[in-house]
Amino acid sequence: MKANKTLVTWFTALGFVVGSTLAHAEREGLSVPQNPKWKEECGSCHIAYPPQLLTADSWEQVMGNLGKHFGANASMDAKDASDILDYLKRHAGSGDRHSAASLRISDTQWFKREHREVPRNYWADKRIKSASNCTACHVNAARGDWSEHGIRMPSGMRMEDD
Ligand code: HEC
Ligand code: HEC
Repeated sequence: MKANKTLVTWFTALGFVVGSTLAHAEREGLSVPQNPKWKEECGSCHIAYPPQLLTADSWEQVMGNLGKHFGANASMDAKDASDILDYLKRHAGSGDRHSAASLRISDTQWFKREHREVPRNYWADKRIKSASNCTACHVNAARGDWSEHGIRMPSGMRMEDD
């Protein structure tokens, strides 16, 4: 079955390309496509979380319930909310590791894996406040820099393998 074999080879190659593109994107530390409305509306109470960190389905749920938003009222103009949702969905992440029942990025498998070297008791430390407070450590995140080089843990805090 020559045709089948070719197909298998082709799919293997395709998987390879997709896989390495994703790995590359993660190494780049998330380059965030800019959108002024998103940055303004979703960056006023906390940093505007990168769209890639949740699935389109999760973003739809977040945006569908802004009146009861993680204990806050984040309601906004319906047109703005719908434009922002379009943007979030266009750049959303995919796969189970980018969703969580709580709709929190900080509860996703992706997050837990990336932060496995952060000692657990740090998350509730008063200098961090919560895992949602990304900028406590990712000090250049507001400029779109989520890379390892942009991480400054508060003094005295160290990763587990240091
Ligand atoms: C009125 C203030 C306010 C606005 C505006 C706001 N949020 Fe939030 N958001 C919060 C609070 C408070 C939390 C919970 C933070 C915590 O638990 O420490 C939160 C948490 C989140 C989380 C979960 C963070 C985690 O732990 O992973 C996501 C996702 C989120 N917001 C997305 C958005 C998006 C998208 C927008 C814009 C449409 C937005 N927020 C606008 C107040 C706001
Ligand atoms: C307590 C400090 C701290 C907080 C708070 C924190 N992070 Fe991190 N983050 C880290 C550390 C430490 C690493 C791991 C770096 C490594 O393994 O070299 C990391 C890794 C990452 C990476 C991968 C960086 C790379 O290029 O390898 C991303 C992206 C990221 N965090 C996003 C977030 C987001 C989004 C939030 C908020 C929802 C957040 N982080 C909250 C400390 C923190």
